[in-house]
Order: sequence, then C-alpha cells, then structure tokens
Amino acid sequence: MENLTETTDHRHRRIILFPLPYQGHLNPMLQLANILYSKGFSITILHTNFNAPKTSNYPHFTFKSVLDNAPQDERYTNIASQGLGSFDRIFLLNQYGADELREELEILLRDGQVSCLITDALWHFTQSVADSLNLPRLVLRTSSLFCFLLYASIPLFDDRGYFELSDNRVPELEEEVVEFPMLKVKDILKMGFKSKNDTVGECISSMVKQTKASSGIIWNSIKELEEPELEMMLHDFPVPSFLIPFPKHLTASSSSLLDQDRTFFPWLDLQPPNSVLYVSFGSVIQVEEKDFLEIAHGLVDSKQAFIWVVRPGFIKGSDWLEPLPDGFVGEMGRIVKWVPQQEVLAHNAIGAFWTHSGWNSTFESVCEGVPMICSPFWGDQPLNARYISEVTKVGVCLENGWEREAIASAIKRVMMDQEIRERAKVLKQKLDVSLIKGGSTYESLDSLAAYISSFPV
Ligand code: UDX
Repeated sequence: MENLTETTDHRHRRIILFPLPYQGHLNPMLQLANILYSKGFSITILHTNFNAPKTSNYPHFTFKSVLDNAPQDERYTNIASQGLGSFDRIFLLNQYGADELREELEILLRDGQVSCLITDALWHFTQSVADSLNLPRLVLRTSSLFCFLLYASIPLFDDRGYFELSDNRVPELEEEVVEFPMLKVKDILKMGFKSKNDTVGECISSMVKQTKASSGIIWNSIKELEEPELEMMLHDFPVPSFLIPFPKHLTASSSSLLDQDRTFFPWLDLQPPNSVLYVSFGSVIQVEEKDFLEIAHGLVDSKQAFIWVVRPGFIKGSDWLEPLPDGFVGEMGRIVKWVPQQEVLAHNAIGAFWTHSGWNSTFESVCEGVPMICSPFWGDQPLNARYISEVTKVGVCLENGWEREAIASAIKRVMMDQEIRERAKVLKQKLDVSLIKGGSTYESLDSLAAYISSFPV
C-alpha cells in the first residue's frame, strides 16, 4: 500500500468532495480523498448529518455538513435508516438540494484555489450546480464500469419489455441478454427496476446523463479487470476515465460507521491457510428470519470454519441474533457484528468469501486474491456476481434462494476448488503489478492528479 505521507508543502489547490452517505459509498470517496491528499491537494469533505463520517479520523481534512441540517425537517426524519428504504434520501436530496449546495459552494469558492468538485455519481443534481458556478465536476462511480454500461442500457431493456416479465415466464428469464451474453434476463430483473420511469429508473437515468456531462469519471476498478468495458465507456462516454483500485492503496477502516470487532483475530491466527470462510452481506442488506436460519444451517452443515458478520438489524424484526439457539454454531464458527473487512480478507487463513456481491466487497476480495461465493440481492449486485462467476471466473453464483443443502455444498466446493483459487491469485498479481511505475494504476493516478492540476483556479 502507498505511503500516504504529505508529498508537498504547497497545498495551493483544494478539492471539494461530496460522498453519498452510505458505507459502500463513503468508503471509496474517503479512500480517494486520502489518495488525492497524498498527491498534494487540500481536501474539503461535504457530508450529510445522516451517516456523517468520523471526522476525528481525518485531522488533515476540512469537513462541512450540508443539506440535512434542520433536525425537524420531516422530509428526512421519516426515512428508514436501514434497508432499501434508506435510499429514499438520495431521491429527496437530488430533488431539493441544489439551492443550498450552491450557497455552500459559493462560500467555499470565495476563498479561491478550488480546483474542482468530486461527487458520487448518484448526486446527479450537482452537475447543474457546478455548471452554474463554472466549477469542473468529476464523478466518482463506486461500482464497476460493467454495471454502469448496464445502467446506461436500461431504456433499451425497458423497450424490449424485460421489466414486464414475471416469474412464470421462466424460459425467457433464463435467456441470454444479447449485448451482454454473460447475463441472463433474470439478472436484469433482479436489479429491482420496474421501468426506466420508476423513481429508481429515473434516478439512474439522470445519473447516467449527468455523468456524461461531467469533466471526468473516477472508478474504483482497474484496467486489467475491465479492459473491454473501458473501451466501450471511452467510446460511448467521451470524458476522461481514471481507474484506480482504492483497496490497493489503503483500507477503508477509518471510514467505518460501525465499531469493528477485532477479538476473533487470535483465533483466526491459529487456523491453517485457506481454511476459513468469511461471510458478510454488506452494510444495507436485510434478510427474513427463515432465510437467516437456512444460512446458519448451511454454514454449520458445511463443516468448514467460518467468520460470519451479522450486522445488528440484518435479520428483519430482530435486534441481533435472537432467532439463533444459544451455542448453535459451536466451535467451528465465530459470529461478529462488524469487522475490518480488508484486514480479514488479507489474512492467510481466509479461503473464500461468501458475499452479497456489493462492488466494494467484490473488489476488495479481488484485490486480496480471495475466491467468492456470490449471493446477490439487488442493484449492481446481480451484475457483479455474474461478472465474477462468468467473466473472471474467480467465484461461483449461489442461485435459487436460500436452501441449506445447496449452501453447504457450494461452500465445500469453493473451499476445495484449486482452479478458482489459482485464477484469483493470478488476478491479484496483475493488480499488484499495475501499481508499480509504468503500470496502469500508477499512470492513471498520475494523469488524474495532472488533469485536476490543469483546471484554472
Ligand atoms: C451498497 C450496495 O449494496 C452495493 O451493491 C454497492 O456496490 C455499494 O453500495 P454495501 O451493500 O454496503 O453497499 O456493500 P459493499 O459495496 O460491499 O460495501 C460494504 C463495505 O463495508 C465494504 O467496503 C466493506 O469492507 C465494509 N465492511 C463490510 C466492513 O468494513 N466491515 C464489515 O464487517 C462488513
């Protein structure tokens, strides 16, 4: 990992970054902020009060809370804090945030020396605000290029009537998607849109449009993983793209919203190499109690050692582990609330990662050379899962719901599969090589810093 000490005394140029307030979006934005700081830029982070980052972990940055500063504003207080409903905040702030953000930016611009604004791609309303201030806006897209190309094709899929297909049209659901043959039609449906015109569809289409209007796109990815997709992006979206594997530069620990448990590390240190399954379904997913119990049975029946992250609120209707009988997992497993995930994935005892296929988790696993079992839920996850199982072939998809026998057998298969492990190792090596001088990451980072420095201040 890169040494993130200060590389210059002249922090003349300031970059303002504005992340989306969810763990899977805060992590890459704050990693990017640290990387840009190491390149000599001053950093200001705009953030909402909801899921505000722990500012004390970043004494070298300036922070400013924006947009949800009025505690009594019922538009925001009534939004769920867990699960899919928590994303309603994105639609509201995109709708109402422009005037307030413009005022905040005007104040920051008065000090001069601001090079650009970098926002999460899903803050699509920020493009017109930046344009009105003549401020270049770059976009951080926190998922893969593959996913973005898919999202850009939603109008096409809508015209084909994919979103109207229902579960009883099985033959059509199992068909390949012509433009993306690694996908089945059912994967498109699993993303969760009802049409290009529902609230989510409209938000995604605005994101795509305003990304195209931006001054550049930064990806938490790497050319060695997504070369064909990069070529398609450059063809369809003629703005500069910069691919940087953030987990290869630093961990996301300091932007964790939950306290991290480290008490299991002494146990993990005693386990043989590649013998422990790491299980986590990210920061947002929730499951029904009956599915949770199938997962628990599948894990125990697999007879593999495991570490399982069960976030408080993960089981719908429970605070934490109430549905699980005491002592159920026995000595083979450890259940914890939250861990320093990259550190766990980097541990040599970890043999595979059973994941919901969120992009950060997927890419952190790729960066550490850990094979995956993919159980996607919605959004980009079904796409990431297919990419990992069909394109890079460093994981397998666990399909067709939660069923303990299928779970146990998939776990045993992946833990013992030497070919998948070897492919994951080779991919990790390619990523490592990209970091050295002349490698794709090294070049991309340098050209991003030069590009930002070329903006007039
Ligand atoms: C969400 C979406 O679900 C995901 O599909 C999208 O790509 C980003 O936004 P999330 O579900 O939280 O994110 O998944 P993911 O993208 O994998 O991000 C989770 C982050 O939390 C990772 O950076 C991971 O390292 C971190 N994490 C997870 C921990 O630090 N500790 C844990 O115990 C579990």
